[in-house]
Amino acid sequence: MELTLPYIAASVFLLLVAFKFLSQKIHHSRPNIPPSPPSLPVIGHLHLLHRPLHRTFHNLSETLGPIFSLRFGSRLVVVISSSPGAEECFTKNDIVLANRPHGTIGKYLDYKYTTVVSSPYGDHWRNLRRLMSLEIFSTNRLNAFLSIRRDEIRHLLRQLHQKSSADFTKVEMKSKLYGLTFNIIVRMIAGKRYYGDDLEDSAEAAEFRELVSKAFEYGGSWNAADYVPVLGWIDYKGFEKNLAKFHKRLDLIFQGLIDERRRDESKNTMIDHLLSLQESQPEYYTDTIIKGLISVMILAGTDTSAATLEWAMSFLVNHPQVLQKARAEVDAHVGQDRLIDEHDLQELPYLQAIISETMRLCPPAPLLVPHMSSDDCTIGGYNIPRDTILMVNAWAIHRDPKVWDDPTSFKPERFESREVEAHKLMPFGFGRRACPGAGLAQRVVGLALGSLIQCFQWERVGEDPVDLTEGSGLTMPKVEPLETMCKARDIMKKVLSGGVNDA
Ligand code: HEM
Repeated sequence: MELTLPYIAASVFLLLVAFKFLSQKIHHSRPNIPPSPPSLPVIGHLHLLHRPLHRTFHNLSETLGPIFSLRFGSRLVVVISSSPGAEECFTKNDIVLANRPHGTIGKYLDYKYTTVVSSPYGDHWRNLRRLMSLEIFSTNRLNAFLSIRRDEIRHLLRQLHQKSSADFTKVEMKSKLYGLTFNIIVRMIAGKRYYGDDLEDSAEAAEFRELVSKAFEYGGSWNAADYVPVLGWIDYKGFEKNLAKFHKRLDLIFQGLIDERRRDESKNTMIDHLLSLQESQPEYYTDTIIKGLISVMILAGTDTSAATLEWAMSFLVNHPQVLQKARAEVDAHVGQDRLIDEHDLQELPYLQAIISETMRLCPPAPLLVPHMSSDDCTIGGYNIPRDTILMVNAWAIHRDPKVWDDPTSFKPERFESREVEAHKLMPFGFGRRACPGAGLAQRVVGLALGSLIQCFQWERVGEDPVDLTEGSGLTMPKVEPLETMCKARDIMKKVLSGGVNDA
């Protein structure tokens, strides 16, 4: 028979009807799966996934309820938007839901799923978490790296002072805050500065910055072929080929950092500690494992803290009375004769409340990181089959009127008088796979924000409040990079003359 257009169209139509019929049969053979909206054959609900996803999921939960399901092509995805649902996931079901889904991006950026972020729950993941908590995040290690955090924050303060010593001046904050958190992490890892001024090798720094920003772009994207396998057979849009090529370059730069540390005499960076473990257990602490840790620290640990700082500064500029109260707290506790330091943070509850309130309204990972079920389980009475992808909409839970009074207003006071349970406020997730870098992030964000409040006055650029629209990306960025008016306070003269103590 001749392959005419009507013949092809009729065949495709029949195939789609058959597919729909089969998928409904499969659905009915697994009863009591969370409700879902009508879907299309083959792609399921992929056409509904408009960015930002946390808002799309929140809108769907308003009609479907706090636990609903979607089909990303061939994969079942369950989305949780309530605090009791999240609690059930990360207490009763914590182990069953402790796997991560695999996809093309993880195959490359996560070194074939061997990094701590993407490795399946099991011995290898446990070893990596133990290694991180001893070698990177232990109190001893964090204290040993305190001088890096102090030094980078002073760089930022000096940079701002150059512009604003005489009067209020407009400053662009986003790039400065991102530079701060990147330099802190990369100096901890390899002892190098790649952002801002005073760079040792600006060509190397530029290449590093270009590759890392591309890695963030990949991290925030997704490959349709992970859900519609037929697209993978033809490598739709060359996605995998380009990713593989890009990852070769990124891998080379990470390998370069390791090789450079091998040649260096001073032994103070994270890579040095890992290389000394490699000497005693070379078969486990391979270069690939070390490169995976470098990649994870950069991708999980930089943007998240920078985004929190940018949102916090935006809220402060929009709420001058909150800023004034925070400054009064810092002045009362620390004064103007010395710079705020990390040990002050526990004595500054209002500053901490501002950070909590910022992460409540703008969690840098609004959907946490996807989990996957390793076995059948139940959530909220619904059946969740093995290999289901689970997403928890922390952004929606943080704004749920059943949990929070006046949920969309910025009111740090709500944290002054009460401890909040983990299943209500979860910017770092909770349960086994919760963020291991939370302690470091709290130190960096607390010290940086406290220093900016102590050393400068801040105002809006015009009459209008700072635009708080969210963009899309790996972390939840602001669409408009933050610009504010800034003027140095007297303490900056002492900082510059070296006349302030560090304690
Ligand atoms: C404000 C800053 C940060 C926020 C809001 C944040 C948030 C998160 C969240 C929501 C998760 C996923 C939890 C889950 O799967 O349920 C996570 C995982 C992770 N974070 Fe963070 N994070 C921050 C900073 C950091 C830092 C500074 C590091 C390291 C330098 C880091 C390293 C990691 C790692 C390695 C994981 C994966 C853990 C695992 O899968 O076992 N994060 N983070």
